Amino acid sequence: MQRGYFITFEGLDGSGKTTQLRRLAASLESEGHKVVTLRQPGGTALGDRIRSILLDSRSEESLGAIAPLAEMALMFADRAQSIHQIILPALDAGAIVLCDRYTDSSEAYQGAGRELGSERILSMHRAVCNNLQPDLTLLLLPSLASSLHRARRRNQRTTQQKGADEGRFEREDDAFYTRIYQAYEAIAAREPERVAAIRDDAGIDQIEARIREIVSARIPASVP
Ligand code: TYD
Repeated sequence: MQRGYFITFEGLDGSGKTTQLRRLAASLESEGHKVVTLRQPGGTALGDRIRSILLDSRSEESLGAIAPLAEMALMFADRAQSIHQIILPALDAGAIVLCDRYTDSSEAYQGAGRELGSERILSMHRAVCNNLQPDLTLLLLPSLASSLHRARRRNQRTTQQKGADEGRFEREDDAFYTRIYQAYEAIAAREPERVAAIRDDAGIDQIEARIREIVSARIPASVP
C-alpha cells in the first residue's frame, strides 16, 4: 500500500512548471515532508541517456529521423525505469513525489503533437507503467496565444542558454503546439478529479499561491 503522494506537473514548453515545481518542493520540505523530485525524460542514468537522444536537435544527424513510434517507445522506456528506480520506492517510503512531466506529456506530444492518437499512448501506459496514475496533476495552461508566445521565446533561448542542445522539440511549429494545447484541454475535461488546470496568465507568485492551496487541500493527513 502506497504511503506517499504522487504529483505531476504538466504544460507546454515555457509554461513555468519547472519553477513552480521547485517552489512547491521547497515549501513542502519546509512543512517537514520528505520530497523527491524528478523530470521526464531523465532522472535515472538510463533516462538521462534517453533524454539526450530525444531532445538533442543534432541526434538525427547521426541517427537518422526518429520515427514517432520510436520516440514514444523511448519516452516510455524512460518512464518505466524511473517508476521502478525512483517513483515507487519513494512512494513506498512515504515521500511526496513531484514529477516534471509524465504520461500526459506523451499523450499531448506524441498522441496529439505527432498524431499517434491517445488510445495508443494509454494502452502503452497500461502495459509499460502498470497504469500508475498520479494522485494529482497540476496542469499549467495559460491562454493558447500566450502559450505559443512562450514556447517560441523558449525556442529562441534554448540553444543559446542550455549547455546541451535540447532543441529538438522546441523547433516545432504553432500547429504542433496547438494540437498539444488542445490535448491537454481534453485530458483535463476527461479527468477533472485528477487534473487541476491553472489557466490564468497570473504572475509566478500568484500561481505558486494557487498551487499551494490546491495541494494542501488534497494531500491526505496520512502522508508523513
Ligand atoms: P524539457 O527541457 O524538460 O522541457 P520542459 O522544461 O518544457 O518540460 O524537455 C522535455 C521535452 O520533451 C518537451 O518538449 C516535451 C517532450 N516530451 C514528450 O514529447 N513526451 C513525453 O512523454 C515527455 C515526458 C516529454
